[in-house]
Amino acid sequence: MHKGSKITVALIIFVAILTLPFFYNRGKVNKGPEINLNTSAILKLADKQCVEPPEWMRANHMQLLLKWRDAAVRNGQTVYTNSQGKSFEISLQTCLNCHSDPALNTSDQFCVSCHNYAAVKPTCWSCHSWPTEAKK
Ligand code: HEC
Ligand code: HEC
Ligand code: HEC
Repeated sequence: MHKGSKITVALIIFVAILTLPFFYNRGKVNKGPEINLNTSAILKLADKQCVEPPEWMRANHMQLLLKWRDAAVRNGQTVYTNSQGKSFEISLQTCLNCHSDPALNTSDQFCVSCHNYAAVKPTCWSCHSWPTEAKK
């Protein structure tokens, strides 16, 4: 065999071995949490919208909730008006009314499944009632 082709064969094998883990893990890596938006409350909505746009909610819901807490507890505000002028009652219960469904398993509950995936443990449930996430 010519020296050059030996090197080529060696290189092909080398690259194949190197990329094997990548192909092996295709479809497995970065598999996100199960985001179940099919609660009975959301299925009943004519307008399937969150308090704010979903990308914004994904990134900022923690800040929004802290803002809500301060608004409610410190300033006695009860109504939040969103960027489209729509009003929502300031309460964790508002989120749960849409996103929690007793018919679902704990691990399928919206907030819980994502927090488990991201290894986030909100401390809120030690006081606020939400049985499914309180069992920590
Ligand atoms: C040490 C107990 C405690 C913890 C922990 C706690 N809260 Fe509260 N929270 C309260 C109390 C007490 C009220 C006032 C209850 C009321 O007005 O009904 C309140 C009220 C609120 C309200 C407005 C009222 C409502 O119905 O929701 C929001 C929003 C809120 N908290 C968010 C949070 C968030 C978010 C966290 C976690 C980051 C949190 N709280 C953690 C005790 C707590
Ligand atoms: C009126 C029902 C309703 C209420 C109230 C509500 N949501 Fe939502 N939420 C939705 C719907 C519907 C979507 C999906 C919207 C879309 O994909 O366009 C959503 C999407 C989200 C998302 C993004 C999920 C993702 O990754 O795609 C987060 C995070 C979220 N909501 C958190 C909250 C929190 C926190 C609260 C309370 C402050 C809340 N929601 C209140 C209906 C609601
Ligand atoms: C798409 C994934 C996802 C969903 C769905 C989701 N969360 Fe979160 N949540 C996160 C992540 C990630 C963090 C941590 C963010 C950080 O530390 O900056 C977080 C943090 C929080 C915190 C702050 C916790 C702390 O200790 O600082 C609260 C409160 C919270 N989420 C409430 C909720 C509620 C209520 C719902 C359901 C209505 C919900 N989240 C749904 C991903 C999600």
